[in-house]
Amino acid sequence: MPRHFLEVDDLTAAELVSVLDLAELLEVPQVLIGQGVALLFEKPSARTRNSSEMAVVQLGGHPVTLRNEEVGIDTRETAEDLVRTLACYHSAVAARVFDHRHLVRMAAVSPVPVINLLSDAAHPCQALADLLTLRQRWGLLAGKRVAWVGDGNNVCRSLAAAGHLAGIEVRVATPKGYEPPADTIERCAVVTHDPAEAVEGADAIVTDVWTSMGQESEVAARVSDFAGFTVDEALMARAASDAVFLHCLPAHRGDEVTAEVIDGPQSLVWLEAANRMHAMRGLLLFLFGEMA
Ligand code: CP
Ligand code: NVA
Repeated sequence: MPRHFLEVDDLTAAELVSVLDLAELLEVPQVLIGQGVALLFEKPSARTRNSSEMAVVQLGGHPVTLRNEEVGIDTRETAEDLVRTLACYHSAVAARVFDHRHLVRMAAVSPVPVINLLSDAAHPCQALADLLTLRQRWGLLAGKRVAWVGDGNNVCRSLAAAGHLAGIEVRVATPKGYEPPADTIERCAVVTHDPAEAVEGADAIVTDVWTSMGQESEVAARVSDFAGFTVDEALMARAASDAVFLHCLPAHRGDEVTAEVIDGPQSLVWLEAANRMHAMRGLLLFLFGEMA
């Protein structure tokens, strides 16, 4: 059975460290020479598509990016038939989907690894890049305190899963009604509706858009519901004096974060974006059997 990567906790804690170590290898093993990786997108992407394509190239392989309009998951053919077809030509199938259950169905029948490039439930490749970024800054992860301020969404859930595996104390503040699901709450030290409480003494503050892809009809309600959840300089000042700021991007300055914070000295968002490629390379090396 191939290893799949649908959420961060498909890895053990030790395997997560291996992926991060593999992401930092200076001499990159050419494990994908002559092989393809399919990258399927049901939603737009700047970072995930480009970082994944380049990670495959750096491993000697050939990425083939597909938009869902070309293949039609469950419209032109079933998710199962599609992944079996792609596996005839590719050594891995990675997909960004609206419905996480499509990934689960694909993984159940796929003879090659299936990788989640973002679903409604999780964004595990983002969490790998976030941990890599924090490890580069701090040198170690265990015992650090990370505060999430915003929607208890896909990015929040994967960050909490990753943080839990790495021994990080994860603290979450969401508006009422936007809390993450119970399995994420179990992994958090604090889940509150008060951003100030979540960020107290934090070593990193992390946020994301208030309205995720697929939720566009809720924009007006969310702008109202998320009042008071903007990460601004006053909120950053409640964290540790050397705290850093992360955001997966794309960002909306003036909504979830002010320009002063995301473009300011505490922001690591460009290192974080660059690390998407390194983290994907590390993940692919791990899935193809390399050891750090
Ligand atoms: N952070 C992230 O996944 O960005 P894209 O949606 O542009 O891929
Ligand atoms: N939560 C966002 C992340 C985008 C990278 C979304 O799902 O649209």
